[in-house]
Amino acid sequence: MRTALITGANQGIGYALVEELANRMNPEDLVLLTGRNPERVAAAVAQVGGRARVEGRVLDVTDAEAVWRLAGELGGVDIVVSNAVGPLEPGKAAGEQVDGFVDVANLGAQYMLRAFGPVLRPGGRLIVVASSLGTLAQLPEGLWGRFDGASLDDVEKVVEEWRTAVHDGTAAAAGWPEWINLPSKVAQVAAVRAVAAERRTTDLANGTLVASVCPGLVDTRASRPWFDDFSQAKSPAEAVRPIADLTLADHVAPELYGELIRDGRIVAWKPTAAR
Ligand SMILES: NC(=O)c1ccc[n+]([C@@H]2O[C@H](COP(=O)([O-])OP(=O)(O)OC[C@H]3O[C@@H](n4cnc5c(N)ncnc54)[C@H](OP(=O)(O)O)[C@@H]3O)[C@@H](O)[C@H]2O)c1
Repeated sequence: MRTALITGANQGIGYALVEELANRMNPEDLVLLTGRNPERVAAAVAQVGGRARVEGRVLDVTDAEAVWRLAGELGGVDIVVSNAVGPLEPGKAAGEQVDGFVDVANLGAQYMLRAFGPVLRPGGRLIVVASSLGTLAQLPEGLWGRFDGASLDDVEKVVEEWRTAVHDGTAAAAGWPEWINLPSKVAQVAAVRAVAAERRTTDLANGTLVASVCPGLVDTRASRPWFDDFSQAKSPAEAVRPIADLTLADHVAPELYGELIRDGRIVAWKPTAAR
């Protein structure tokens, strides 16, 4: 029996991934659909189909204690997908929304990596849903060294420095992009790289994968306010297929380990000329 857990799964990409995994896993397997709001989690579980069992769990990823408690309670997990994200409003001052956003997207992902990494079963998958925007190319070169080769502690410190700079009004002068999503995604990918660097040898020996993924442009609550043209966007169901392929594959090419992956291919962390 395998257990999969998805955060931020009561709607959007997380919900579609629960459904895809539930369809493709076995009846004795368990898919945990988690979200921060009990009513929305219950409504999503009532709606979702599939072969595997699906159970709802309330998990607010900003609640570090709750994240550790659930990891301890489950003991062993085969697939963990950190996917939760809060909404960002265009036109609203960065200082007014950076805390809410970073607490979910960055602290939440960091808690998930720290709490669930140790309970991941050999051959398991520890995945963060990030974005192709989570590469160093999105930052001025002067900031690359803050993330490149950073430990998870380092990444957490940089995230806090950037958050403080946004509040102080000094972020732009320090080179941080105005759109909060960009540094946040780079930090998510850097956090995954940091964790992967620590466990690489053991994981590669037993077929475990730690990686970040990009779903591509998908029409969801998170993306809708930011893009006008969704004619090329995938549906959530389409977008999660390559993510499910990666999580359910018997064998994953070792070069994908620790990388940002989109549709089965690596998205380069550094621009080609700089590598
Ligand atoms: N959509 C795209 O085009 C796109 C592109 C690239 C990357 N991504 C990434 O894909 C992931 C999923 O995004 P999405 O587009 O599916 O977003 P979404 O439709 O807005 O769904 C986000 C989910 O996260 C949950 N969430 C928010 N705060 C939470 C918290 N504190 N604890 C637990 N769950 C929480 C939300 O729950 P509530 O319903 O309770 O708010 C919701 O279920 C994100 O990491 C996003 O950045 C999306």
